[in-house]
Amino acid sequence: MSFLSQRLSRVKPSPTMAITARAAELKAAGKDIISLSAGEPDFDTPAHIRAAAKAAIDAGHTRYTTVDGTPALKAAICRKFRRDNALEYTPAQVSVSSGGKQVLWNALMATLNPGDEVIIPAPYWVSYPDMVLMAGGTPVVVPAGPETGYRMTAQALEAAITPRTKWLIFNSPSNPTGAGYDAAALRALTDVLLHHPQVWVMSDDMYEHLVFDDFRFVTPAQMEPRLMDRTLTVNGVSKAYAMTGWRIGYAAGPERLIRAMGKVQSQSTSNPCSVSQMAALAALDGPQEYLEDNKALFQRRRDLVVSALNGCAGVHCPVPEGAFYVYPDISGCIGKRSAKGTRIGTDEDFATALLDETGVAVVFGAAFGLSPAFRVSYASADDTLRDACGRIARFCAGLR
Ligand SMILES: Cc1ncc(COP(=O)(O)O)c(C=O)c1O
Repeated sequence: MSFLSQRLSRVKPSPTMAITARAAELKAAGKDIISLSAGEPDFDTPAHIRAAAKAAIDAGHTRYTTVDGTPALKAAICRKFRRDNALEYTPAQVSVSSGGKQVLWNALMATLNPGDEVIIPAPYWVSYPDMVLMAGGTPVVVPAGPETGYRMTAQALEAAITPRTKWLIFNSPSNPTGAGYDAAALRALTDVLLHHPQVWVMSDDMYEHLVFDDFRFVTPAQMEPRLMDRTLTVNGVSKAYAMTGWRIGYAAGPERLIRAMGKVQSQSTSNPCSVSQMAALAALDGPQEYLEDNKALFQRRRDLVVSALNGCAGVHCPVPEGAFYVYPDISGCIGKRSAKGTRIGTDEDFATALLDETGVAVVFGAAFGLSPAFRVSYASADDTLRDACGRIARFCAGLR
């Protein structure tokens, strides 16, 4: 009898975390390493949010709360959905968890039965397929490459749907590509979904506030109100408010789903941290102006990185609409040898050689289900990004 569960043998640990850890190890060993692999803003949580958390501790908000979020935070989340997305939810339709990750996990655990299929456009956030597998479902990966701007087309969605499809996981702007679906692109998908009433939509809107140029964010339940009763709209404070460590994510959707998710949470972690809930309340109800400053900062960095990477031999970097990632295609580098003689047969070879030979850590495309490419997180200072891009350019120039 094996000690570890069969369920666990179906999944792999998060490769982005593994690469971040490897880069940190090399750095600790004294190597000159630049890590462009982390998925979090490089600045502190705003002062008014930190102050709210300190006040919450002193005011005694240090005990268990309602399992899936305090009434006050749920009310603030309803206000957020009304303000930002023109969506009307009641507090009973809202669930709060320890990060967006737990929200997604609860929803999958609460709904998937063996054989249920979940459509996941690739490249995808690394955790989606493994969470589906752990919850007993079957991921159905739909490639959406650079030729369609890393967006899944209506035709590809239609072709992937079967009578067993339970969910589509939709993520715009996307981790890892930064690609966003504008109203027309989203409308094409929601029109397909209207014809398939068994398919639910899990919309992961974590990067809603990080969108650039004249891109306008729109979420499926807002785009097509007829999908409201089979859509879970997922969001969180981690990325927008630089609060990755506080672990607060939330979702809104039909009450019976929200209740089921609460049941999963009640028998696993119970409530998310009481102090973090008070901080999230301050983030959602407090001033929102700095979101614009963050956007401007990230847009400048995006432009810097896209232009530098497009100057690298063999690299083609599409311009993303949002998030803080770019996902350059490296078809032109595959099959070559690095200046130090490493054969670049895959994007994993590319990322490994890049780290070993130049000290720049990026995540290889295979981790996100679409190769050959790599992901750069540009949540780093401009000088660091310039240095890293210069090293990548020299590495690419050395490929023969
Ligand atoms: C697309 C996407 N969804 C969800 C999450 C999870 O967010 P949280 O840190 O709130 O769990 C992340 C974090 O990297 C993400 O990139």
